[in-house]
Amino acid sequence: MQIVNRIDPLRDAVERLREQGKVALVPTMGALHEGHLTLVREARRRAAHVVVSIFVNPRQFGANEDLSSYPRPFERDCELLAGEGVSLLWNPDAAAMYPQGYATNVSVSGVSEGLCGAARPGHFDGVATVVCKLFNQMRPDLALFGEKDWQQLAVIRRMARDLDLSRPLAADIIGVPTVREADGLAMSSRNAYLTAGERAAAAALPRAMQDAIAAIGAGEPVSRALDGLKSALIAAGFAAVDYAELCDADSLAPLAERGNAPARLLVAARIGKARLIDNMAVGE
Ligand code: PAF
Repeated sequence: MQIVNRIDPLRDAVERLREQGKVALVPTMGALHEGHLTLVREARRRAAHVVVSIFVNPRQFGANEDLSSYPRPFERDCELLAGEGVSLLWNPDAAAMYPQGYATNVSVSGVSEGLCGAARPGHFDGVATVVCKLFNQMRPDLALFGEKDWQQLAVIRRMARDLDLSRPLAADIIGVPTVREADGLAMSSRNAYLTAGERAAAAALPRAMQDAIAAIGAGEPVSRALDGLKSALIAAGFAAVDYAELCDADSLAPLAERGNAPARLLVAARIGKARLIDNMAVGE
């Protein structure tokens, strides 16, 4: 696996790989876990070469979110990626990504604003900005993102469509389904913050979501199904539900009723020291 940290050698290396077939990009902030490796494996299935970026993007951290303590186990990440057959690792520092005088922000209105965006102002601008730069730096044929962060995926898809960065002009944006534990809990590095008791209680989240989806499918009013979901989580031991919303799957506009367009149930809830997020398709 080749490792580069400057933009000119990156472009040369990507062009050489592209001579042999499609190049897939998996953007990450490092501290890799099974979810990232699932994206890499899917990328390998779909392309001749996989490029992974590791960049802890300062622009997506809020003032109260500790950028400096974000884990950076670089050697271990390299071993994992080499073991998965990754061809190239793009590992710029902040000065390479945002040189002196950098002044441009990519902001995707609407889809960035509610749900997690409401609690983290500026976060999705930071994500859209860095992903736009990564697409321009490498011009990948496809790029893969986890569906676990559905709002992030929706922001990136909107940005790529609006700025002509997605197929047929540039990258195919592939959402990879959430990997779940045996009891249905979505895999996340945040699950490690849970005590054994909290971890057992957390399985109520996917269960309550499935119950709400079944209730909506059976014709129950959306607001009543969402109230039932929130009550079930509190009864199971969650401290608070930050949001539980039925949304248009693409624009993330809240839906008061299940219509014909693809819809998604999105939830964020707190248990112990963790804030867990999950999302599921409704009516597919
Ligand atoms: O999901 C992440 O790890 C980050 O938000 C991403 C997409 C790599 C952009 O920094």
